[in-house]
Amino acid sequence: RDLPATRVWGFNDSSPGPVFETRSGEPLLVEWANELPLKHFLPIDYTLPGAEKSVPEVRSVVHLHGGRTPPDSDGYPEDWYVPGKSAVNFYPNQQDAATLFYHDHAMGINRLNVYAGLQGMFLIRDAVEDALNLPSGKYEVPLVIYDRFLRKDGQLEYPVSAIPGKPWVPEVFGNVVLVNGKAMPYLEVEPRKYRLRILNGSNARFYRLSFDNGHEFHMIGSDQGLLESPLTLRRLQLAPAERADVVVDFSKCAGKRMQLVSDSLQVMQFRVAAQGGADTSALPMKLRAVERIKETTAVKTRLLTLDEHLNLADQSMDMMLNNTPWHMPVTEKPVIDTTEIWEFVNLTEDTHPIHLHLVRFQILDRQRIDTNAFFDNRTVSFMGSVEPAKGSEAGWKDTVRADPGTLTRIIVPFKGYAGRYVWHCHLLEHEDNEMMRPYEIL
Ligand code: C2O
Ligand code: CU
Ligand code: CU
Repeated sequence: RDLPATRVWGFNDSSPGPVFETRSGEPLLVEWANELPLKHFLPIDYTLPGAEKSVPEVRSVVHLHGGRTPPDSDGYPEDWYVPGKSAVNFYPNQQDAATLFYHDHAMGINRLNVYAGLQGMFLIRDAVEDALNLPSGKYEVPLVIYDRFLRKDGQLEYPVSAIPGKPWVPEVFGNVVLVNGKAMPYLEVEPRKYRLRILNGSNARFYRLSFDNGHEFHMIGSDQGLLESPLTLRRLQLAPAERADVVVDFSKCAGKRMQLVSDSLQVMQFRVAAQGGADTSALPMKLRAVERIKETTAVKTRLLTLDEHLNLADQSMDMMLNNTPWHMPVTEKPVIDTTEIWEFVNLTEDTHPIHLHLVRFQILDRQRIDTNAFFDNRTVSFMGSVEPAKGSEAGWKDTVRADPGTLTRIIVPFKGYAGRYVWHCHLLEHEDNEMMRPYEIL
């Protein structure tokens, strides 16, 4: 059938954008040129939150998610520029090998720009990783997974709410899952090991990935690089912006087809050839040392709330961090080269993937709390037992799932650069609607 081409935005005529292949310690300058049209093709016919009426419709700024980037190159949401303008960003790449990604981060419109297609993968490699002899070349495949709502005419639909003056919808889910921009794709593989670099690039959808035949896979890395040793899984949860570096061994599946699924949704099919060449790659049992940060090294503990309020007048929903909108003065000011514990108290009914720019952190634990007691007098009274970070979360992270009614604790060394950054929920609808705050490293 002849299907019409779906209109999307991308980088260098590609959506997702091209995969950056970079090396740790090799700095990089990138000029991001905004050559978008003057008018958005998704509905934004209302005043953007936190913006003046005079602000042009299409603006963009690019952020390297997971990058240890100086503040003026980080893609601060208010550093956007209009079509015809560009920004040159400096990426020092002074960090371990990891699966990063870049995406639009323009204030108040980020969810639409990313939904339109403005994201791509950014890989950093290093000597530690090279020495592991993991599957590489055509046996290493980046997979950007995201859902979109396609109308019958094949074009992207972005829903708006019927509430006058507040057309944002709190979450957007598509009717089709795309992998690298393709719906229901398949990949022909040889019966051998592959390395899959998986990114959840959805605005709001969480995935619980598994193979339909129950096949196992080995997680070797998360957001900020390699785990200490591979973790064998049959199912993997990924919130928006989380990454998983995974090795799958297809050698026992010669001649078979298997589907990567998320619950009942088809993600992609693997068609395993009947035979292939010798597999000289490895899956070492020791990957990279991840030294656990001691809680006693933290100089400060911050209690931070994730809040939502239903406005009874119009049934709209407000979401915030610390009950504080974006434009209020900065409240989180860690000192450079110190370590802090951040405790997220999620008083909402959803899980929010919380992301901090610049830094990498470790997840300490989670514990259920009595939210009514918290509402009454801001005291944390614990209800369940302390749940340590899951095995898949044991390495360095930059995005953490904060579950409802739960206190989630992370420990963060603030290394890199002093200056203004942001922390926010990575459900893009939430981020664009006040669930984002500036923070400043002193
Ligand atoms: Cu994926 Cu503020 O970032
Ligand atoms: Cu980021
Ligand atoms: Cu959220």
